[in-house]
Amino acid sequence: MDLPHHEDVSPGTGTLPPRSWYAASDAAALSLNGPWRFRLSPTADAQDDAFAADGYDPAAWDQIAVPGHWVLQGHGAPHYTNQLYPFPVDPPRVPTENPTGDHLRVFDLPADWPERGTAVLRFDGVESCARVWLNGTELGDFKGSRLAHEFTVGPLLRPEGNVLAVRVHQWSAGSYLEDQDQWWLPGIFRDVTLLHRPEGCAADFFVHSSYDHRTGTGTLRVDSDVQGRVTVPELGVDVATGEEAAVPVRPWTAETPRLYDGVLATAGERIPLRVGFRTVAVEDGLIKVNGRPVLLRGVNRHEFHPETGRALDLETMRADVLLMKRHNINAVRTSHYPPHPAFLDLCDELGLWVIDECDLETHGFTAVGWRGNPVDDDRWTPALLDRAARMVERDKNHPSVVLWSLGNECGTGRGLTAMADWIRARDPGRPLHYEGDRSCADTDVYSRMYADHAEVESIGRGTDEGPEARRHLPFILCEYGHAMGNGPGGLSEYQRLFETYERLQGGFVWEWIDHGIAHPAYGYAYGGDFGERPHDGNFVCDGLLFPDRTPSPGLVAYKKVIEPVRIEGDGRAGTVRITNLHDFADLSHLAFTWSYDVDGESVADGTLAVPTVAPGESTEVKLPPAPTRGKDAETRWTVRARLARGTAWAPGGHVVAWAQLPVEVGMILPVPGGTAPVREDGRIRLGPAAFDAHGTLLSFGGLTVEGLRVDVWRAPTDNDNGMPWRPEPSVAARWRALGLDRVQHRLDAVELGEDALTVRSRVAPAASDLGLRVAYRWQSDGTRLLLTVDVVPEGAWTVPLPRVGIRFGLPGAAGPVRWFGGGPGEAYPDTAQAALVGVWESDVDALQTPYVRPQENGARPDVRWAEVGGLRIDSDHGPWFTARRWTTEHLDAARHRPDLVPGDTVWVNLDSGLHGIGSQSCGPGVLPQYELTATHWRFSHTFSLTGR
Ligand code: GAL
Repeated sequence: MDLPHHEDVSPGTGTLPPRSWYAASDAAALSLNGPWRFRLSPTADAQDDAFAADGYDPAAWDQIAVPGHWVLQGHGAPHYTNQLYPFPVDPPRVPTENPTGDHLRVFDLPADWPERGTAVLRFDGVESCARVWLNGTELGDFKGSRLAHEFTVGPLLRPEGNVLAVRVHQWSAGSYLEDQDQWWLPGIFRDVTLLHRPEGCAADFFVHSSYDHRTGTGTLRVDSDVQGRVTVPELGVDVATGEEAAVPVRPWTAETPRLYDGVLATAGERIPLRVGFRTVAVEDGLIKVNGRPVLLRGVNRHEFHPETGRALDLETMRADVLLMKRHNINAVRTSHYPPHPAFLDLCDELGLWVIDECDLETHGFTAVGWRGNPVDDDRWTPALLDRAARMVERDKNHPSVVLWSLGNECGTGRGLTAMADWIRARDPGRPLHYEGDRSCADTDVYSRMYADHAEVESIGRGTDEGPEARRHLPFILCEYGHAMGNGPGGLSEYQRLFETYERLQGGFVWEWIDHGIAHPAYGYAYGGDFGERPHDGNFVCDGLLFPDRTPSPGLVAYKKVIEPVRIEGDGRAGTVRITNLHDFADLSHLAFTWSYDVDGESVADGTLAVPTVAPGESTEVKLPPAPTRGKDAETRWTVRARLARGTAWAPGGHVVAWAQLPVEVGMILPVPGGTAPVREDGRIRLGPAAFDAHGTLLSFGGLTVEGLRVDVWRAPTDNDNGMPWRPEPSVAARWRALGLDRVQHRLDAVELGEDALTVRSRVAPAASDLGLRVAYRWQSDGTRLLLTVDVVPEGAWTVPLPRVGIRFGLPGAAGPVRWFGGGPGEAYPDTAQAALVGVWESDVDALQTPYVRPQENGARPDVRWAEVGGLRIDSDHGPWFTARRWTTEHLDAARHRPDLVPGDTVWVNLDSGLHGIGSQSCGPGVLPQYELTATHWRFSHTFSLTGR
């Protein structure tokens, strides 16, 4: 049976061989971005080709923006799946219902368009395939959504009224190769450009620019199919193409992204070059750049924008790179396809190590036992080779690209080997990455995703199981730290391993940004919100950035974890040890400051002279004498490493690293006492506090307090919920099975003592004999109120608790909040790395972290005191403080942000224990040291009025 072109395994017909992408030369170019005419059909063959003919009148058609996805412009809807193909697995066939977008654009050539030479039409990205006509002549067709395709069009062009017609199918044989975990978003989503190709221009060129770290020499050779000259004025280089120039240079690294401007001049064209000299090699079992091993502090980046999907403008790409640089990220894996080529220019310019990954994933074949996997079926090999070549040829001239990746999650097969062989032959200058083959047959790096700490440590030690040859390869975690919802936890423990074992060369957090689609009713939509089936829910929102690119607490924590400078010391002794964790840069770009804090407020500050420290080296410096020492005050030094001067990615003063060094601990809370509880009018009075007859606090000094009692429940996080496809129950499933979301509070006794009111209760879920004996002991000195709570577990608790502490409501208390403790952002036991101790001000609404799918959030750690709604709470043990305008039950029930409707009570949690976060939405759970296991807890809080 003859299949139509879109169901054919071939990569396409009629396209030019792939070549290097560059932003601009002196050859004329015409952008064909902008409004196009658009018509959507439900099937691939619903319409004939008449629209491509000259003179066709598209007056009845809609308009659409190119670049863009039609499903984000009012035509059809997006569909999200993680691994599953959203259509029957019957390669290369696709469904009859195959949304098909016909695109039409009429354009004139600019008046000064050159007459001589020819022209090519370039498509930088079309999902999932395209068939192209110009002025009624069919040019050909292509697949490979995130890859560039060009057609030669010279003789077909006319000065005016050129008709460009493109038919795009949502589904094609190529869809089988593009099963990445993301929205399926059809359309012409990257630029369309007409490029003049002057006579005598190069079809392609390859910039080879290596660096010899022993001699400091850069070697430049530009290969091209036509003769030309290569000049780099700053280096005095002026050589013919194919000829080598060796000159002393400053090398390119991600930390020091030195580029030299040059020109490749051929008879027809002057192409600007941005040359970075660097050499990448795997030597002694390590990935080395310019002779030194590198530590990758990376993220996986999908291209995403909440309104435009994978159609990104330059500003958005730049924003991504700036945000990465400002958060100490030094590496990016272009998961799971080559990005818009301009993104790589930014990586060259601003400095990021790049793993450039091919547009290839066949993950959905796991569902059928990998039967028919295209990467192990020779019929598909030409398509795979085409994809490999299109990536390598397009991106080969970027110094930032240090590794090629064959693709993601394709299983194993001969096609991958063919790709690897081709890439090695074409570009021996870059090692190969692929995670999906544990034998590492085709790769130079052992790469894994989501391996737990213990396994990573054994790999670091070289005691891991597996093929002997693999033990000699460098190791990276190409994905770890699954940033879905609140979290990820466990990052510091990974970083410690990376810094301990040389072979562990770092990792890439999954992933950069939540793919939530802006939605009028849901805020941000995720899988299933468009009625699509099958779908994978909010698994598509697992980034360090919220969809609007606001950093989540996970990114702030990651920045702290991967600081390239370690600051440690002894606050009492006034000594600071500074270690340079850069691989190449010394510390001369940083200026150090100190601040001396008394009870969380800075009382003095200054600069700290730090000598230049070479990479990998440390130095010790003295702090000035401590300025004051308040009686009973808590004092500490805060030392910060800041950019000494503005850089291309952040202004001078930007904080790169910091540490706090405690000096004196604060006073211990004085215990008030002396007031006797009395019964009055069916109530109990204790100093300024009123309780009902059951000992429930009703008010304190005129403030109404609602429902104060012990609380153990939290709205499960995505990490608590774990991976739905795993057979073992997640911690949240175990909590719900036990009934921790619906514990009952039984009142056992109300005891009026001489100077205390004691209320005893048992807190336990139905249908279980596990429980918590709770004693609330209330005391007052006449103005303040002291609450001491004992919580004693009964029975054999084999499940950690979500939280242990008290919660209460303060009617009408929405508004400002102050606290002395960790801040400014949210922190949990294993995500608290970036919590800076100080006095912080915020308000209840701003304390909320707006996870796309609502879940437990917003805790502030180590709170010595907090003020909210006129109440001040002092605590001797630094509890976690949370305040929100809805209950945990509401939070738990909410599916999208707008479901959280503020009530008129602020609910405060003061938790003496919180279960950690972990990374179990895809990866290891909470490490044992962060589990909240049942034990005897005793904690106390003093309540007073703020007078506000
Ligand atoms: C990996 C995959 C990613 C993403 C992640 C979970 O298996 O490579 O694309 O699906 O898991 O979010």
